[in-house]
Amino acid sequence: MSRVLVTRQLPERGLDPIVAAGHEIVAFPGDVPLTPDELATAVRDVDAVVCLLTDRIDRGVIAAGTRDGSRLRVVATVSVGYDNVDVIAAAEAGVVVCNTPGVLDETTADLAWALILSSARVTSTAESDLRGGRWPGWGIGQYLGHDVHGAGLGVVGWGRIGQAVARRAAGFDMTVIHHARRRTGAPGYMPDLDHLLAAADIVSLHVPLGPQTHHLIDERRLRLMKPTAVLINTSRGPVVDERALAAALRSGALFAAGLDVYEREPAVHPDLLAAPRTVLLPHIGSATVGTRTAMARLAAHSVVTVLAGGTPPNAVRRPAG
Ligand code: GLV
Repeated sequence: MSRVLVTRQLPERGLDPIVAAGHEIVAFPGDVPLTPDELATAVRDVDAVVCLLTDRIDRGVIAAGTRDGSRLRVVATVSVGYDNVDVIAAAEAGVVVCNTPGVLDETTADLAWALILSSARVTSTAESDLRGGRWPGWGIGQYLGHDVHGAGLGVVGWGRIGQAVARRAAGFDMTVIHHARRRTGAPGYMPDLDHLLAAADIVSLHVPLGPQTHHLIDERRLRLMKPTAVLINTSRGPVVDERALAAALRSGALFAAGLDVYEREPAVHPDLLAAPRTVLLPHIGSATVGTRTAMARLAAHSVVTVLAGGTPPNAVRRPAG
């Protein structure tokens, strides 16, 4: 029997595969992120960790779990992004890292579309005026947005989620272009991100966070976008320079933004909170009952597979970026 540290509360039944395999679950009371010290202490006496994207499994934590007779073998993060885990340190220490690809693509694409529609049609501003008693009655020039149907959608990152977002555009008669670092062979591929940004009406980001994508959308690139354009980010906050984005929205250089992720979660840059025409959600891309349960179960299955000596297909093979 192995010991599996579970850092936060997970959806009911999500951990069943671990229990069914006869392993012991070491759970933390409450549902708050562990401090780095708590994590480093907790990993000393376990074979596996199931964590969330809010847990930083850095080199120190990996070292604590593997030195002086410690026996950590696998870290499974219940997220598709794995920038919270130092995968290089893990690989060096022989610890397998798993994420949860595949089970959240459609759910996250749905949320990206919620942001596309609400941002282009300024629904947050309109609703907050209504709720705040600031709606004076119907007016022909009020809350004018831009049409989504027939617009040009630029998808940045052509993984499963980016492609799921693109598929939905067919129902809106949109032209879809996309950019990825490697040629995709799919129609609408643009090798130059700058060209995509200049051409698209709606830009949706679907890249992993890594050194090459940190501030991928910076002040210079924001300037390339149309003043009528909308920027959507459901990937990771640091992919966008938030301060520059807020300035572009304030100056009218960019029409609107729909964000689900932030540079310093849970903090949101005050300039963004004050920026016009922004739809701001609290990192809920994969937040449906079914998908969050599927994510937890996939992480649990991965742990069981590794502890049984196998390699799950969702073992991370290379650093993000
Ligand atoms: C959510 O952001 C995830 O990476 O699963």
